[in-house]
Amino acid sequence: MHKDLKEFLKQKKLFFEKKLGRGFSSHIFLVKNKKGKYFVVKMEKDDSTRLNMAEKEAENLEKANTIGIGPKLIDTDFEKRIVLMEFIEGPRFSDWVFENPSETILMRFVKELQRQTKALDKIKLDHGQLAGSGRNILVRKGLPVIIDFEKASCNRKCHNASVIEGFLFKNPNSAIAKKVGEIL
Ligand SMILES: Nc1ncnc2c1ncn2[C@@H]1O[C@H](COP(=O)(O)OP(=O)(O)O)[C@@H](O)[C@H]1O
Ligand SMILES: [Mg+2]
Repeated sequence: MHKDLKEFLKQKKLFFEKKLGRGFSSHIFLVKNKKGKYFVVKMEKDDSTRLNMAEKEAENLEKANTIGIGPKLIDTDFEKRIVLMEFIEGPRFSDWVFENPSETILMRFVKELQRQTKALDKIKLDHGQLAGSGRNILVRKGLPVIIDFEKASCNRKCHNASVIEGFLFKNPNSAIAKKVGEIL
């Protein structure tokens, strides 16, 4: 285990459970406290070329949290390039949608995602990576939780809601838009 992760877990009295995944610039670990409650550690890779990923993720996630969006930010250690956050239990939208949710369930999901993206637009926080693969939206109890705020920004034009409209309904080359179209 990476020594920074090991040290962080010791300091925070957390225990390693398993590696959840590996993104372009970070590792994602599932950890738990002594009561067995799960959390997620997002840790920037040593060779990451991205500037201040952990700081950006934490700052933007905190902003999203003020309106109840995203996993709750729990703690940070910028020296170790770590962000600790709430664990969202559930599949990625890109997998879930192909398990054929009913029209009612998918409609409820879509309405809530539209509400969340409009709310992000209102506070001028542009997520930046909502479309594409659909891996930055997790599905918990049938409802969306937007994750991965490392490339979010308050300094550019905000278009979360329009990006999601395109992603869900308009992109003719997307298997996801096709699937959504079939169900709704
Ligand atoms: N808070 C979380 N709860 C559950 N799973 C998570 C959480 N954060 C990340 N993941 C998982 O790890 C993957 C990569 O995380 P993400 O923040 O998107 O990193 P990257 O910037 O590398 O894309 C996600 O697609 C998701 O499967
Ligand atoms: Mg991601």
